[in-house]
Amino acid sequence: MKGLPAFFAKRYIAGEERKDAIRVVRHLNSQGILATIDNLGEHVKEPSHAEDAVREYLSLLDDIRDGGVNSSVSLKLTHFGLDISDEIAEGNLRGIIKKASELNNFVTFDMEGSRYTQRTIDTFLRLHEKYTNIGIAIQSYLYRSPMDVRLLIEKGASVRLVKGAYKEPTQIAFPKKRDVDKNFEELMKSLLLKGNYPAIATHDERLINEAIRFADENGIPKERFEFQMLLGIKRKLQKRLADSGYKVRVYIPYGADWLPYTLRRLRERKENLFFVIKNLFD
Ligand code: FDA
Repeated sequence: MKGLPAFFAKRYIAGEERKDAIRVVRHLNSQGILATIDNLGEHVKEPSHAEDAVREYLSLLDDIRDGGVNSSVSLKLTHFGLDISDEIAEGNLRGIIKKASELNNFVTFDMEGSRYTQRTIDTFLRLHEKYTNIGIAIQSYLYRSPMDVRLLIEKGASVRLVKGAYKEPTQIAFPKKRDVDKNFEELMKSLLLKGNYPAIATHDERLINEAIRFADENGIPKERFEFQMLLGIKRKLQKRLADSGYKVRVYIPYGADWLPYTLRRLRERKENLFFVIKNLFD
């Protein structure tokens, strides 16, 4: 890793290789924190590259088992060929999910930009009919998400609720942060009440405190949901929640294709951006 983005990437990414991710997971596990590992990659255009991604994930699942670490896996459908065809992506995912199921592991589908939302949900639901060891991320910035969450609750699917990390037009997504946060809070409460082991994936302490208060008020036990955060963000909070008996899972990205993920993280942090710009002109 070289250059300025690489300087930031080191905070958010475990490294370029599988063994880097396993090492970070082992350290987190020793602090009572769970993990989900993501091999970075997206928008694959060649079937052979999607097959490489399948091989990488199959080896990752083996390494998780052989390393005796506690981690699920997360993935993006465009890494498995969704830009080529739904069938190719679904076929590739099936192999990974089947192996994860045999190893008693779990696969979460990340949610990408809005042009993939419907196809990601459709693919998820088709696979969920056969495999229950899969979950899916839903973004609270999209107007459609209450409808999607209702359907996924009905299907007994496990949802990871996130705010959303892509740039979306105002026709389909809330432009104001306070509306995204409000939608998050409402969806979080329905998932806590009626969802199947939801993941509250945010670093927003107000929302995390509200989840804790709401779960207490409604007699929802700590084992019925988990908090999820990203590697390199709010480390002390992760530890504090785990020490208080909450399940906390940290998302661990690794791989050579670290730039798009790093840029999404930088966009979320204005001060980081100022730092980048300042350094570009210094
Ligand atoms: P918010 O942006 O309000 O941040 C709350 C606080 O967290 C900030 O004030 C700051 O202190 C800290 N913080 C947030 N981002 C930071 C950063 N980059 N660097 C340093 N500090 C930061 N998105 C998506 O579209 N599809 C997906 O599949 C996923 N998957 C996913 C998994 C997991 C486990 C998490 C935690 C997040 C995602 N996301 C995602 C990303 C998500 O949509 C969102 O962009 C980020 O989590 C940032 O939003 P917050 O909820 O943290 O709130």
